[in-house]
Amino acid sequence: MKDSKEKNAGFEPYVLGLVCNWCTYAGADMAGTSRIQYPPNLRLVRVMCTSRLDPTFVIRGLELGADGVLVSGCHPGDCHYVNGNYKTERRMYLLRELIQQAGLEPERIRLEWISASEGSKLAEVMKDYVNVLKKIGPNPLRNSREKHHVDEKDLFGKELK
Ligand code: FES
Repeated sequence: MKDSKEKNAGFEPYVLGLVCNWCTYAGADMAGTSRIQYPPNLRLVRVMCTSRLDPTFVIRGLELGADGVLVSGCHPGDCHYVNGNYKTERRMYLLRELIQQAGLEPERIRLEWISASEGSKLAEVMKDYVNVLKKIGPNPLRNSREKHHVDEKDLFGKELK
């Protein structure tokens, strides 16, 4: 029997990143300007706060075939909208339970706190997340959908300015 590493050889996971404007989005920008390299598997969709995320965005991302959804925002205590990220943390916990009930691996949803000055942390998180997703393999919903590259148009019905 082939181990998961062998079975998923050549598989490059597609990661949908739903990130806060004030922290992680700026952190990704910082990683770029500092030339910190991280796996190119990430497609970012920016929201003003992680608490802006309707949980259905995460489900929709998986339904459309993203192999993993990274939700990332300000560290606890640093949210620009007071306690938005605490609400997000609770929602992510429930979402992981929900997708597990639906037969998906809970690792397909990941929550991280990455500030604007932590471009290198974003790189480390992405390296680790891509490895985790490579081990668990492609999203089984991916094959049932023609499209698996999800963007803000899919989530919000239009491109964000
Ligand atoms: Fe960044 Fe709320 S403003 S998580």
